[in-house]
Amino acid sequence: MAMPAAAQTAITIERESEIGTIQPEVYGQFLEHLGTQLYGGLWVGEDSDIPNTDGVRDDVFAALQKLQVPVIRWPGGCYADIYHWRDGIGKRTPRVNLAWGGTSEPNTFGTHEFFNLAERLGAKTYLNVNLGSGTVNEAADWLEYITGNGQTALAQERRGNGRAAPWKVDYLSIGNETWGCGGRMRPAYYADLYAHWASFMVVDGEKPVMIVSGAHDGNPEFSDEVLDHPMIGEVSKGISLHFYTLPTSNWSRKGAATGFAESEWASTMERTLRMDGLIASSIAMIDSHDKLPDGYGLYVDEWGTWFDETEGRSSLWQENTIRDGVVAGLNLNIFHKYADRVPMTNIAQMVNVLQAMILVDDERMTLTPTYHVYEMYALFQNAKSLRVAMDGPTYSNGEISIPALSASAARMKDGRLAIALVNADPGADHAIAIPRTGAERATGRILAGNAMDSRNSAAKPEAVAPRPATIRQDGNRFTAVLPARSVSVWIVG
Ligand code: AHR
Repeated sequence: MAMPAAAQTAITIERESEIGTIQPEVYGQFLEHLGTQLYGGLWVGEDSDIPNTDGVRDDVFAALQKLQVPVIRWPGGCYADIYHWRDGIGKRTPRVNLAWGGTSEPNTFGTHEFFNLAERLGAKTYLNVNLGSGTVNEAADWLEYITGNGQTALAQERRGNGRAAPWKVDYLSIGNETWGCGGRMRPAYYADLYAHWASFMVVDGEKPVMIVSGAHDGNPEFSDEVLDHPMIGEVSKGISLHFYTLPTSNWSRKGAATGFAESEWASTMERTLRMDGLIASSIAMIDSHDKLPDGYGLYVDEWGTWFDETEGRSSLWQENTIRDGVVAGLNLNIFHKYADRVPMTNIAQMVNVLQAMILVDDERMTLTPTYHVYEMYALFQNAKSLRVAMDGPTYSNGEISIPALSASAARMKDGRLAIALVNADPGADHAIAIPRTGAERATGRILAGNAMDSRNSAAKPEAVAPRPATIRQDGNRFTAVLPARSVSVWIVG
């Protein structure tokens, strides 16, 4: 049983201090050909007994629709640099997935299936083309096949394969983690290749928003050197950053997804909060490059929790608990704070892989705590992020001390405020107060877990699900108690 803390934290929302619009793409997803994400997860094929539309599971699709998915990155990740698009159009060419465990890759989910899925969801598309083992010609042809509007052979081939109108590629990146799985390149070499290839990523005068692949948390100098390229600002609108939350920060023993000690709750929170400093330092680095245009963006196109492999499961399948939900809330609050400079993020990943929204097992689908956080936070899309101030309690465990509470706020189009509140303390409830500033009403929903690793399952699908929050009016303030291990979203106005 969590202990209520005595003190009440006052949270101030600076209503006149707008940071910027929270781009819907901040709530982006990532769909890689990895483990059972596609085959056995999202995609079952038209002939399956599982209800589907054009091969995509109806239950998973309906769940994703509720998230208002704004953009999907595809086909990788490391997989992008072994993917040859012609394998996944017309008559399919089965391959081995050399990026992820040598599993079979039937290529039944390809270009048409991805772009149709995005179109049905109303999501923008983020294509990662193959620099590692592909050619510039291959990438340019793919873009023309997808987006060509004229009478070219490639546009005609697409029509012959059943799609008359062109689709749109909204965002495009060339290569992925080119310092690692994408080809072990030196930054200057990659920057040269990127600038070269980017020059040819144009069809009918249209160019996607171009993103250059950058560093992960441990090698910021890679991005710095890529940005030294004198023309990189002409051929890209921003650079990517990858950052994963490992409980131990140790890639050979990351930590368990469930059944962990409180010390690993604390180290998970401490590590995930480093996202704030990483974004700040990446923005400072971007701004130190004089030749880049104003507003050059930071695209956090891979982030999320990464635990030890789960025995008997496919690659990178992991359980998702209230700890993941809290991690999601903390990171989304950080992204809101940088709304003016972080135009897109892509949580890794959508189904059955890493910090997934949805876990699928044959007939059954389970919505994870992370899913519920995304569903609760969806109202932040397109809202104007506001500055928030508080002097709240600290949560400590061993040598770790972090702020127990995190908050973000934004003005929605209808003028009401959306407020997100996270209590990352696993053992104490914390009381808060927010000035009413003339608002008549506050309503909210809260996601909390009974234990540090509370999760949903087929037997208990609603063990961790949003419920109404109790908010009191106390004179000129709204007050509430945020339970230990919880994420809340309020609407005030
Ligand atoms: O998301 C899983 C993998 O993590 C991606 O394929 C790769 O880009 C990163 O290392």
